[in-house]
Amino acid sequence: MTLRTLESLGSLAGRTVIVRCDLNVPLADGEITDDGRVRASLPTINALTSQGARVVVISHLGRPDGASDPRYSLAPVAERLGELLGSPVTFATDTVGDAAKDAVASLADGGIVVLENLRFNPEETSKSDEERAAFAAKLAAFGDAFVSDGFGVVHRKQASVYELAKALPSAAGLLIVAELDVLDRLTGNPERPYTVVLGGSKVSDKLGVIGHLLPRVNTLLIGGGMLFTFLKAQGFEVGSSLLERDQVETVRGYLQKAQELGVELILPTDVVVASKFGGDAEHEVRPVSSIEDTPWGASGLGLDIGPDTAAKFAEIIRESVTVFWNGPMGVFELEPFAAGTKQIALALTETRGLSVVGGGDSAAAVRALGFDDDQFGHISTGGGASLEFLEGKTLPGLEVLGWQS
Ligand code: 3PG
Repeated sequence: MTLRTLESLGSLAGRTVIVRCDLNVPLADGEITDDGRVRASLPTINALTSQGARVVVISHLGRPDGASDPRYSLAPVAERLGELLGSPVTFATDTVGDAAKDAVASLADGGIVVLENLRFNPEETSKSDEERAAFAAKLAAFGDAFVSDGFGVVHRKQASVYELAKALPSAAGLLIVAELDVLDRLTGNPERPYTVVLGGSKVSDKLGVIGHLLPRVNTLLIGGGMLFTFLKAQGFEVGSSLLERDQVETVRGYLQKAQELGVELILPTDVVVASKFGGDAEHEVRPVSSIEDTPWGASGLGLDIGPDTAAKFAEIIRESVTVFWNGPMGVFELEPFAAGTKQIALALTETRGLSVVGGGDSAAAVRALGFDDDQFGHISTGGGASLEFLEGKTLPGLEVLGWQS
């Protein structure tokens, strides 16, 4: 079986189609700080409205714990969607209650309604198959067909991702198809040299992908907060930098495995050490062998890769033909610690082959640092989803649409 696409649903004119998007955007004081995921949902919504379908958009936002919480309302997202589409979008103040029922019943052909955050309902993420199925049935009652287009959430077995796809005639939207087109090239037979750059704070989130990628890549570059667990595994002191002590042994195993496989697993040689966590911290560049040799001793903390490391990583990236990058190199949100991430992003824009930025955080980072989406081969909307895809895992939200890896 192959992935079912929109065509498999036949003519959708006058029919009500539920579209699961991932509109989980970062917000600050109620303002969307990166609307990349809203933009990414436009092609499918346009494809449906242009054939006269009535479109019901559903999504989660954040992790509100199964109860209504205004901080996680999709209202600002619905407004942004309307602005980007240049046409009216109705917002329903609940997900399966009277407001949603009325809004869906009032839809005209080509009209769009966004329902309130799915995760305000505990059944959406319930561990019970029955509860999830019951919630999916309530959602399914709104429509004639289901289009799954929230690539960022396909690794979650949640009601609106999995059970809803079983409850209605269902297919993948254009975003999912586009994401798989690119990510499949990374897992199939990527053009070489193939370099993967991993950053971000938690090694434990990346262990699966590191283990799976080691035999498949030519070079693995490690930055971000997780680099300190690798340095510790090599015997270096890391001051008060982020450290996952319980992962040190596993990481040591990966260093050994990389050596056996002849894969270059490259760690930073210098880092930026700060007196404290903050944009106004004092800071200096130190070799990784003397992180604690600063005026702040063992209380100093590494917040970015150093300039030598950034230059070396950038050179490797530029010379690669396939590059996948997930996770910032440092605390890019604070100006003094943004240089590493910026240099890596720039290098990705300069590779001669396919450059893929994976994940909400990395995508937000490159946009916040002033890069345009079209400078990269592909910016994936999925963080956890793209990593789990590269890990070779079976993703429930794809499997249910007929996808076989
Ligand atoms: C993401 O931001 O990676 C997706 O929207 C999934 O969100 P979740 O990790 O809260 O399920």
